[in-house]
This record gives sequence, C-alpha cells and structure tokens, in this order.
Amino acid sequence: MSEQELNGEHLEKLPIHKGLVNVVVDETTICSVDGIKATLYYRGYPIKELMEKSTFEEVAFLLLFGYLPRLFELESFKKELVRERDIPDRILMLLKSFPRNTTRIELLRTAISALSLYDPDDYDYSKQANLRKGIRIIAKMPTILAFSHRIQSNLPIVEAEKEGKLSHAGNFYYMVTERKPTPEIESAFDKLLICQAEHDLNASTFAARVTVSTLSDIYSGIVSAIGALRGPLHGGANERVILYVLNEIKTKDNALPWVKKKLENKEKIIGFGHRVYKGWDPRALILREYARKFYEMRKNGLLKDEIISQPGEQYNEEVFPIIEELAEFMIKTKNIYPNVDLYSACLLYELGVPPPLYTPLFAVSRCVGWITHAIEQLENNKLLRPRLLYKGELDKKYIEINKR
Ligand code: COA
Repeated sequence: MSEQELNGEHLEKLPIHKGLVNVVVDETTICSVDGIKATLYYRGYPIKELMEKSTFEEVAFLLLFGYLPRLFELESFKKELVRERDIPDRILMLLKSFPRNTTRIELLRTAISALSLYDPDDYDYSKQANLRKGIRIIAKMPTILAFSHRIQSNLPIVEAEKEGKLSHAGNFYYMVTERKPTPEIESAFDKLLICQAEHDLNASTFAARVTVSTLSDIYSGIVSAIGALRGPLHGGANERVILYVLNEIKTKDNALPWVKKKLENKEKIIGFGHRVYKGWDPRALILREYARKFYEMRKNGLLKDEIISQPGEQYNEEVFPIIEELAEFMIKTKNIYPNVDLYSACLLYELGVPPPLYTPLFAVSRCVGWITHAIEQLENNKLLRPRLLYKGELDKKYIEINKR
C-alpha cells in the first residue's frame, strides 16, 4: 500500500475492522486455532494430547524452543525453573508494603514491572537474554502470586521448594497452602496451566507484541499483557464467573431466572462467547470434565483435602450444576457456547482455590505464550501501528482562553 493510500480521502475508502475482527497481522509458528473445527494446536501438537501426556514444564519448553525436549533437555530446563523460583528480597519487601485488599493481579503486574530492575540481563535485548529473562519470569510468577496472596491474607509466606521434588504446579500449591498436594490435585493444576499457556493473538498477547514491536523490553511486554488480561472480556472473566455464581445465583433453581433477566437487560453473560470459537472451545470441553471429576469426588467425600479455601467459607455444591444449567440454556437458546473461563472458574472452585487467584493464575500460565510471542515478534519485527479514521471537525477557529 502506498503512502498516499494511508492518508487523506484514501483512508476513508479503506474498510474499518472494528475490534480488529478477522484481521491477520503476521504469520506465526507458535499456535493454531480453528474456531470452526474447534481445534487448538501448540507448535503443531493438539492440546488434548498435550494435556493427556505432557507436563506444564514440557509444554513451556515446547512453546519457547519450538520442539519437544529430549529427557536431558527437560531435566535441565526443570532445574533452571526451580533455581529461579526465588524472588529478590526487595521485591518481597515491596509486596509487603502494598495496601491490603488489593487485587492479586495488580500486585503481580506491579511486581513484574519492578522485577526487571533486578534482572541481570535487563539491558541485554538479544534473543538469548530474552529467553533467560523469560524463564526467570515464568519461574518467579508463581512465587510472586503465592507470596502476595499469603501477605494479603495475613499469613506467613512459604518459601519455594528448592530441591525440585515439586513440579511448577505442585510448588505453587505448596507455597499457597503450606501443604504438599496429592498427585491428583497437582495434576489438575498442571493441566490447567497447560491449557491456558497459549492462544494465538488474544488481546493480552497482542498487547505484549505491540509493546515489544517498539523495541521496548520483554518485561514491559509482560506488564502490558497482564494489564490487558485482567479485563473481564478476557482473563478477568473466570473470577467474574465464580463471583456471580456464588453471590448472585447461589442455587440451581435461580440459574435460569438469573440468566433470562440478564439477557432481557441486554447484558453479556461472562464465561460465554468467543471471538474465534463459534461452537465449543476445546479447552472448555476438557476442563469441564476435570471440573465434573472433582465435583463428584467432593460429593462422594473423596476429596479429603480442603485445599486452599479461606477459613469460614462454605463450599457450595451447586456451583457445577449451576454452570451446567447456564451452559445448556445459552447453547440451546442463544447458540452461544461456554468459553475456557467458565470451566476454569468451575474447576478452580472445585479445587478450593480462592477467587482472587483465578485471573492471576491465568497470567502464571499465559506468560509462557506472551514470552514466546514477544521473541517471535522480535525475530522479524515490524512496528505494530494501525490507523484510526478521524471523524471530528478540522480547521476549527482557536479562541483565546479569556474569550471562551
Ligand atoms: N452473552 C450474551 N451475548 C453474547 C455473549 C455473551 N457472553 N457473547 C456474545 N454475545 C452476543 C453479542 O451480544 C452479539 O450479539 P448481537 O450481534 O445481537 O449484538 C453477538 O453475540 C456477537 O458478540 P460480540 O461481543 O460482538 O463478539 P466479539 O467477538 O466481539 O466478543 C467476547 C467476544 C468474548 C468479547 C464476547 O463473547 C463476550 O463479551 N463474552 C463475555 C466475556 C467473556 O467471557 N470473556 C472471556 C473470553 S475467553
């Protein structure tokens, strides 16, 4: 397109893609999403197979380096993640200094921004340095989140497990609860992290790519991404889902009257709909089965461990049935399907995770995708800078301040 076509009356003739719907801005080899076939691949591997056979650490390696690691590569990658679990004392002091009742996602965003100041590679923008910084961010995010949560809950912090006996997911659970997870719970956390690790050019990944496309640093990209993720139209949706189920719907009998009223008022039902998937989101289908499994285990008294739930909070056994009722209604009457956040919220609830951790936990997994995309963007960079069509007046008469 010539310079002329991007200016003046030529700009007016160009179609506007509001919300950048169906706009393809580049090529990628990281992730493939097909909203019609309901498929999702990371580096060419179907998500279902990765969730069945892989671990979060292996998937993180796959995304970052582009291939499935050999055993020795995976072992050394895991060791590096364990070595990098600690955060600088100054970051801990910072977390302690923040006001109480602050959302965990804001704490995470602010701490990641500060973390760049302690990164030995801060001013090295090479690909190797970006990978080192990326691995540090992946390793430290669960620590920052767990510490933030313990501090905000007036509990003593639990240091990261440093012998490498606990996986990335298991160590997070341990740092939040001070208890080692059962293999089943560790695995459920691990699967959740895998399925949220990457998803093409979603809003937060786009934010990360826009930021690094200016040749800014990778930490700034991650901070931009966290900021974009927290909105309820994106990753903030999972927390909203559990809050409306627990505080507004409360019982299965209320589910249909609640959703009908919302729709009558032309409100969006958070946890439903997707820009790309127009039928089932494959991740929602998988997480739904995990949520069902833990719901049934709790119902049958098999989930002895109370997991993370806040003291004094009562488990509502109607959460899974409420969500199923909403899903059936939305599909049948509106042809709008559940998205990943509906069932991640449901699974996290059955696992006993406090709602303030839902959205930041999404960031803990998605940071792998953000870092991978930032590196891909920089490998063949073009500044991401679209246009807006100006619709205001031109050549207005300037009136001096004392005459307005
Ligand atoms: N509840 C009710 N109606 C919905 C809906 C929802 N969750 N999602 C989409 N729709 C309807 C819209 O009202 C619109 O109807 P209209 O054409 O009659 O106006 C139509 O479906 C298209 O929706 P639109 O918002 O234009 O699609 P989008 O691609 O821009 O939006 C989302 C995608 C995700 C932003 C949207 O589905 C949404 O807001 N969902 C709720 C938030 C959420 O769960 N986000 C997490 C996404 S993983």
